[in-house]
Amino acid sequence: MKSPLLNKLSKNFRSRPPFNWLLFCLVSVLVVISLLGSSSSAFKSVTSSVKTDTYTNYRKLKEQARSDYLELKTLSVGENQLKDVGVCAKERENYVPCYNASANILAGLKDGEELDRHCELSREHQYCLIRPPKDYKIPLSWPAGRDVIWSGNVKLTKDQFLSSGSIMKRLMLLEENQIAFHSQDGMIVDDVKDYSHQIAEMIGFGSDTEFLQAGVRTVLDIGCGFGSFSAHLLSLNLMALCVAAYGSSGSQVQVALERGLPAVIGNFISTQLPFPSLAYDMIHCAQCGIIWDSKDGLFLIEIDRVLKPGGYFVLTSPTTRRQGSSTSAKKGSMSSPLEEFTKKLCWSLLEQQEETFIWQKTVDSQCYTSGKQGTIPICKGQDMQLYYQPLAHCISGTGSDRWVPIHSRSDSMNSTELKDSEFWKSAVRNYWSLLSPSIFSDHPKRPGDDDPLPPYNIVRSVLDMNAHYGGLNAALLEARKSVWVMNVVPLGVHNTLPLILDRGFVGVLHNWCEAFPTYPRTYDLLHGNGLLSHLDSQGCSIVEVLFEMDRILRPEGWIILSDKLGPIEKVRTVATQMRWEARVIDLQDGSDQRLLVCQKSFVRK
Ligand SMILES: *[C@@H]1O[C@H](CO)[C@@H](O)[C@H](O)[C@H]1NC(C)=O
Ligand SMILES: *[C@@H]1O[C@H](CO)[C@@H](O)[C@H](O)[C@H]1NC(C)=O
Repeated sequence: MKSPLLNKLSKNFRSRPPFNWLLFCLVSVLVVISLLGSSSSAFKSVTSSVKTDTYTNYRKLKEQARSDYLELKTLSVGENQLKDVGVCAKERENYVPCYNASANILAGLKDGEELDRHCELSREHQYCLIRPPKDYKIPLSWPAGRDVIWSGNVKLTKDQFLSSGSIMKRLMLLEENQIAFHSQDGMIVDDVKDYSHQIAEMIGFGSDTEFLQAGVRTVLDIGCGFGSFSAHLLSLNLMALCVAAYGSSGSQVQVALERGLPAVIGNFISTQLPFPSLAYDMIHCAQCGIIWDSKDGLFLIEIDRVLKPGGYFVLTSPTTRRQGSSTSAKKGSMSSPLEEFTKKLCWSLLEQQEETFIWQKTVDSQCYTSGKQGTIPICKGQDMQLYYQPLAHCISGTGSDRWVPIHSRSDSMNSTELKDSEFWKSAVRNYWSLLSPSIFSDHPKRPGDDDPLPPYNIVRSVLDMNAHYGGLNAALLEARKSVWVMNVVPLGVHNTLPLILDRGFVGVLHNWCEAFPTYPRTYDLLHGNGLLSHLDSQGCSIVEVLFEMDRILRPEGWIILSDKLGPIEKVRTVATQMRWEARVIDLQDGSDQRLLVCQKSFVRK
């Protein structure tokens, strides 16, 4: 039973407002309208905010807030005279977000962890365009650009390439404003060839041309110097990815990428690499700076996680020689910690020559539990969608259906993958024809340069921001484009990264609400199929991702986004403000899917 008071209240509540109150409202509205006067755009914004009130569903509200934000950005600089976004300060020329060591130290990180990636500690976001260095020049096209780069394009001190004694690093000569990775007499190239040949022989092959037949397709090169070993492996049709720590004053990753070689910033001081387990056929470290027998073998366990069964770990280091030599004299004794760890990991030492050691990971998943090998437990639980997880003192991958020895895998495609591949073949044909300034009516020239000569579409390094099964990568290779593709599987979608890696491609898991671990100006083409819709579903700021795309794309580089009309139109507006040339292309198939093709201009100020 309701109380009389409550009855009275609810009756009042339900009863209509008195007439004079309605009249008051009407008059007020008229007054507001007349105050707004002729400003029809302001009136429009009033009505649209009224419209948002009808959204009751939280998710829709969130989406609306985001698109309002996008529109707000547009409005704030004047709808009619779209004002360009400003250029960042010169200090940001080589800016990589998430690697601010001083902020990390302030937050209490130490023991090397301050050098790790910590996006949560560098949240501030500046809406400005990273400018290229003063002497920046468009890189030479592949393969010339592999051997010669513009010195003004990368941050390196003279000391950096003269001081290092490592075979991977001493391969540089300076010629005027260029850095060369070869010498006239071919001696430098020979050094790397000899080294690669030596590794092949140590494994038991006649020559390094046999790597492929023996199942070595993908190589992870930790601390890759300037990428010369990777470059050589690529020439043998292997896929070699360089991974090295962030360096605030010059970096191996930046130089490797500038040469058009696959590379990404990464380390595993405290967190795992952004790869699933059983990812690579070979892992290589030549003086890569890791103290392998520290932390109770934790770094070796991470190598074991990422290595495929039967895969090889190649370690070249003067300190290993010291560690190893005491034991090689007394075979069977367990005096070297490194030897002890590798035994526990079921690795067998194939060969040791001078400073180079080669181990092979077991093909027997039972080996770890057979008892006689020791004490490293098997990891519990799935490792499907792991991302920057802490290093774990346990063995991964033994229960996986991807536990297939590298020399006995098969490369068959099922029907889903075949259909996917047909789609991408035709997509690549279309895309390639679009990559020409002629699709924009008024293409800006490079400052101070003559008209660029054809081909305009100098594309070597491709970032597929939502790679699905790696179909774009496969189609580009099939069309014999001389590109390499970094396949990104975004967090929150079905994790296809293991499948991509098993096709012999490279890729990483990545959360697009955060910055991508690379230096500015390192990709020639960014591609995103369904990326914008994905970002919306994740609640990421699309504007922030667009600024991030601008950061990592080289001047005059290309962007191809394929998505629904709504998000495409919104991005086109922002793209124009970011001084990208932009064109929306209707696929003429009756769907609401559109292509947005953009080219980043060469912005100086
Ligand atoms: C790095 O962090 C420090 C301390 O929080 C801050 O003062 C500095 O501006 C940051 N640097 C960059 C490049 O964001
Ligand atoms: C084909 O393979 C993919 C990836 O392994 C899988 O998701 C899909 O279900 C498979 N399709 C068929 C028809 O087996």
